[in-house]
Amino acid sequence: MHSSFAARLTAWQKTHGRHDLPWQVSDPYRIWLSEIMLQQTQVKSVLEYYPRFVARFPDVAALAVAPQEDVLALWSGLGYYSRARNLHKAAQMVMAEFGGSFPTERLQLERLPGVGRSTAAAIASFAFGQRETILDGNVKRVLSRCFGIDGFPGEKPVEQRMWRLAEELLPRDAALMSAYTQGLMDLGATVCSRGKPACTVCPMVDACVAAREGRTGELPTPRPKKTVPTRHTVMLLATHGDQVWLLRRPPTGIWGGLLSLPEFETSLQIEDWLARNGHGDVLPAWPELEHVFTHYRLIITPVPVRLDALRAEAVMEDSGQWLSLSAAPDAGVPAPVRRLLLRLAE
Ligand code: ADE
Repeated sequence: MHSSFAARLTAWQKTHGRHDLPWQVSDPYRIWLSEIMLQQTQVKSVLEYYPRFVARFPDVAALAVAPQEDVLALWSGLGYYSRARNLHKAAQMVMAEFGGSFPTERLQLERLPGVGRSTAAAIASFAFGQRETILDGNVKRVLSRCFGIDGFPGEKPVEQRMWRLAEELLPRDAALMSAYTQGLMDLGATVCSRGKPACTVCPMVDACVAAREGRTGELPTPRPKKTVPTRHTVMLLATHGDQVWLLRRPPTGIWGGLLSLPEFETSLQIEDWLARNGHGDVLPAWPELEHVFTHYRLIITPVPVRLDALRAEAVMEDSGQWLSLSAAPDAGVPAPVRRLLLRLAE
């Protein structure tokens, strides 16, 4: 497979790859611009923005002298605006440090703000036929499947291995570099897709480890799930008529400053709360609710309590307040609390 990978890919790109994208030109400025736009944005959206941008800024000199507001205005809607600010800075750097011409070496290109190793390789290979490999998310998927590489590609050792492999796979003939780089992109985007890869039309299928072993669903290895601790809490759903008792949470910590339901460590403490605050019934607990935070999983046991009489001092006890069942869900409460309040209002 190693020896035929580039030949298969370039042959496939010529017959089945994309050839009509507006940035498939030889002008390094246009190639660079498209690669920056395509970093976090789909081809479909870039096809809308790219022509307008090129019409207003036809070359790197025009971009370098433009006011930043104009650059940002033309970027508006593409998102990730640091890309636009870096683009502008990089244009000025090309003018000031490279005499208005893009450098032809990958390492030089990497000095431009917003240009990482893979983007630099894309520019160097497309514009200058340099034997440099790209390695973006799509390419990592193709390589992990073709070569059966286990391990999350976001992990340094796995990524290092992929860079080395990708470099070994480059065609010997630099004249093939444009077709090769475009082929890597096209294969990942159109055939070796994440969800349902079209293995029957893939030029690599007879050599692909994942296709042979039925592992396209497992490769690339997904990001490891963080194992987070589980915490339990009991939430009090105290109602009095059509009102529910809410507390303002402290300004810091989870749900800081939000209104929320009172919390207890155990259901038994609910009985004490009721004895202190009025007269009524503790009803059977509702089914548990799970809420996942970045650092832990919270299991909520909701316990409804119906008060038919209130102690006068009850309302004074904590910084709580009675809210109507219709207003409470929209009073700025945490998401799982909102779900409970909506259920309560039913
Ligand atoms: N994604 C990143 N670079 C691309 C390119 N040159 N063509 C199509 N999709 C891309």
